[in-house]
Amino acid sequence: MKTKRATFLRLAALALALFAPAVYAQQRRAGSELSLLCTPQVEWCEGMKAEFEKANPDITVNFVRLSSGEALTRLRNERANPQFDIWWGGPADSFIAAKQEGLLEAYESPNLANLKDPKLMKDPDNFWAGIYIGSLGFATNTNYLQANNLQAPTSWDDLLKPEWQGQLMIAHPSSSGTSYTALCTILQLRGEEKGWEYLRAFNGNVLQYTKSGSAPTRFVGAGEAAVGIVFSHDIVAQIERGAPLTLTFPDEGTGYEIGGMAIVKGAKNLEAAQKWFDWALEPTTQELGPKYAAYQAPTVKGAEPARPELLQVNLIDYDFEYCGKKKKEFVDRFTNEIANAERLKE
Ligand code: G6P
Repeated sequence: MKTKRATFLRLAALALALFAPAVYAQQRRAGSELSLLCTPQVEWCEGMKAEFEKANPDITVNFVRLSSGEALTRLRNERANPQFDIWWGGPADSFIAAKQEGLLEAYESPNLANLKDPKLMKDPDNFWAGIYIGSLGFATNTNYLQANNLQAPTSWDDLLKPEWQGQLMIAHPSSSGTSYTALCTILQLRGEEKGWEYLRAFNGNVLQYTKSGSAPTRFVGAGEAAVGIVFSHDIVAQIERGAPLTLTFPDEGTGYEIGGMAIVKGAKNLEAAQKWFDWALEPTTQELGPKYAAYQAPTVKGAEPARPELLQVNLIDYDFEYCGKKKKEFVDRFTNEIANAERLKE
């Protein structure tokens, strides 16, 4: 009896040794699930999940919505056992920082060829690719303007004026890519030394920092502050929802984002992640945004922007490599010298 049992156990162990790697490879390949780290507004994340599942009925997408800074922190903390397969959205600065820290997996998607400007819109080593473009703008509450007989700000200098004392709202750069884009725009416009002086003065007019980049449009729309510094497409979306806001741009020049996308290093569902990556670079996919009140401009040929006027403003020649590589240094300096990240408004 004993020999029979021993033989059975030996055969079972042999079968496991033979088939386990193939099963693991099949799982990694088949990817019946996809774990998505989604940074833009949650309505868009939900919409993209539904659209992807419609196009890939054999794959279930599970997503978490996290702002850029929080997303980067999660990837750092989970480096040894990644919980996400693909990171979609949020300014490219954080993807450049993540590549530098070895948190991303390169992928040469056949659809990289769709990009309008590959030099600008993807990583030279294919660690990230751009999926949308958006410019920074000012959202000002029209009731506040009327009640105080004021004009909406049209320059970064305007924001330092006494009439906006305690009336500005922006996210904190440690959690928000939107805010970090504004910080690095100022440093490029004025140089680092004068830029930090400006940020110190700007902080004096800030009522409170928020966690997420788009949140100031909601609070300024509700009259909790007068001016929000946010991406212009988020302001347009809020105005369309009936918020009493007006959109203006700084005439010195404004920064812009290239929304990034990357496969997470060690992704468990690699094949599904590559499917999402390819799909997100299709013109038909990039024209889905307006269906979910997302008015960022597309990065691929054949896709038309819903709000082209948002990029027909004075854009600075934003240096993504510089801002990406300096992100940790600049965020730490802002947090230590200008405003910490406690009590962020959510
Ligand atoms: C909003 C914008 C996106 C932007 C994102 C950044 O969702 O619509 O274009 O990429 O904010 O989020 P964060 O919270 O990191 O500023």
